[in-house]
Amino acid sequence: GRALRVALLGCGTVGSEVARLLTEQADEFAARAGAPVELAGIAVRRPDKHPELPAHLLTADAAALVESDVDVVVELVGGIEPTLEWLLSALRRGKSVVTANKALLAEHTAELAEAADASGADLYFEASVAGAIPLLRPLRESLAGDRITRVMGIVNGTTNFILSAMDSTGAGYAETLDEASRLGYAEADPTADVDGYDAASKAAILASLAFHTRVTASDVHREGIAGVTASDIGAAKLLGRTVKLLAICERVTSEDGTESVSARVHPVMIPRSHQLAGVGGAFNAVYVEADAAGELMFYGQGAGGSPTASAVLGDLVAVARNRVVGGRGPRESAHAGLRVRPMGQT
Ligand code: HSE
Repeated sequence: GRALRVALLGCGTVGSEVARLLTEQADEFAARAGAPVELAGIAVRRPDKHPELPAHLLTADAAALVESDVDVVVELVGGIEPTLEWLLSALRRGKSVVTANKALLAEHTAELAEAADASGADLYFEASVAGAIPLLRPLRESLAGDRITRVMGIVNGTTNFILSAMDSTGAGYAETLDEASRLGYAEADPTADVDGYDAASKAAILASLAFHTRVTASDVHREGIAGVTASDIGAAKLLGRTVKLLAICERVTSEDGTESVSARVHPVMIPRSHQLAGVGGAFNAVYVEADAAGELMFYGQGAGGSPTASAVLGDLVAVARNRVVGGRGPRESAHAGLRVRPMGQT
């Protein structure tokens, strides 16, 4: 078939791995996707800072690249503005979007999904939650026939690294955060991670898919790890427990029988014998409970360049395959009418 022309927005840790794998494995990729997949342009803030990339592909004008002759936009820039405008522009033009932008999705999935539905474009975002772990597609597709009751787990690698290190060294929070930054495990600005915003965005995405409703980041009760002290961890140890930052999304039934959705992110003391206690480093692990399936566990690398690129590339193959058969991927189904619990109520 005709080549699928890809616009890549952003070429940092994840984007550079996407570009590398797309180029190096072009033939295999074409065979799996059913059509050649061609990198048509890469938008970066400063093209002169990327001597490693083919100069003819580079541009500083993301909006123009989106409007050019491309079929799919892969967005790895992050942030809400101007990213939202670029993605809406792509979708309105019938161009599919693959994005890892959890903060954007946690606030604007409704608008993005509407634009995609109106033009018939695809919207995929597997890389936005839990890096390499196939989690959103199972929620949207494999488990679509089941009634999910709970999604719970570790969805932030940075805080998991810090809490694991505090548990094993007995060191304090500030000291361990410094060490994590020095080793490159924490971002230059770790606020979104340590204060739980990153996990709250991911919880909103997971809850929306699991319960077929619209949950935004502001609906998620959020508490980060900055208040966790060495003595908290010590006390947990004495109780045979350890501290993990968990995202918990569940279906709850109130006394009058009405069902709603609760989503929250906070540190939890869990028994050291619990499987989540053994999840260390930048790994993520998520439990899903459903009526017929029972309990499922998803585990793997939740952050980093190539693990996240794996999820992005899987989405690109899905877009390419849909195009070959003239179809579309799963739509957002926000139809169950389940209410979201006011923040803080659990
Ligand atoms: N900062 C995120 C984390 C990256 O630490 O998990 C992956 O979303």
